[in-house]
Amino acid sequence: MQDPERLLIAVDGPAASGKGTIARALARHYALPHLDTGMLYRGVALALFRFGGDPGNAFEARRAVDELETIDLSDEELRSEVIGEIASRVSAYPGVREALLKRQRDFAGQGGGAVLDGRDIGTVIAPHATAKLFVTASPEVRAERRFREIERRGIKVHLEEVLADIRARDARDAGRDNAPLVMAADATRLDTSDMGIEEAVERAIACVEAARGNA
Ligand code: C5P
Repeated sequence: MQDPERLLIAVDGPAASGKGTIARALARHYALPHLDTGMLYRGVALALFRFGGDPGNAFEARRAVDELETIDLSDEELRSEVIGEIASRVSAYPGVREALLKRQRDFAGQGGGAVLDGRDIGTVIAPHATAKLFVTASPEVRAERRFREIERRGIKVHLEEVLADIRARDARDAGRDNAPLVMAADATRLDTSDMGIEEAVERAIACVEAARGNA
């Protein structure tokens, strides 16, 4: 029997929607462990990149999952656009998703509860989550946020390029056959286009409280 007090929060959404910031804030607020599942796919991408593997080859991508332990998941390189792009490609392979499933389910199954963010947490990894949020924002707003983040790292890019990348990533994440990016039927949509971080976090907490029956 599942502990009724155990809080499992699923946060899904497209790139640069603010889901990572919201998931971290929820984890702090409820004192729960947090897993950014995008980092696992980025880790696989970096492992593949380092051994010179081909992202177009499903077997090489699957092999890179076995090299994940060699990657430091706090490595800054994981956040680069190149690795994000490779991650988006390798994450479409069923073999890669399957190989990362247990690790995510184990994290979600911890006795004290957890917060996970990604693309398929509410639909595939933790369909029985207590609260499910689908965080989104317009492609233009997300591109602007990503653009500023890249600039802060001292890298020069064009906003139009970032917007084109965001659109391409959305199309790939939503269009794949395996665990595509879709909102779970019982998730709450949180559009952060016109919100600052504080308001978005407040709203997210209110959604979790409502899902727990405290609203
Ligand atoms: O969220 P982030 O941009 O770090 O994720 C990198 C890529 O990993 C995404 O573009 C997506 O294709 C993939 N991903 C996924 N399922 C998840 C988390 C991330 O397919 N649960």
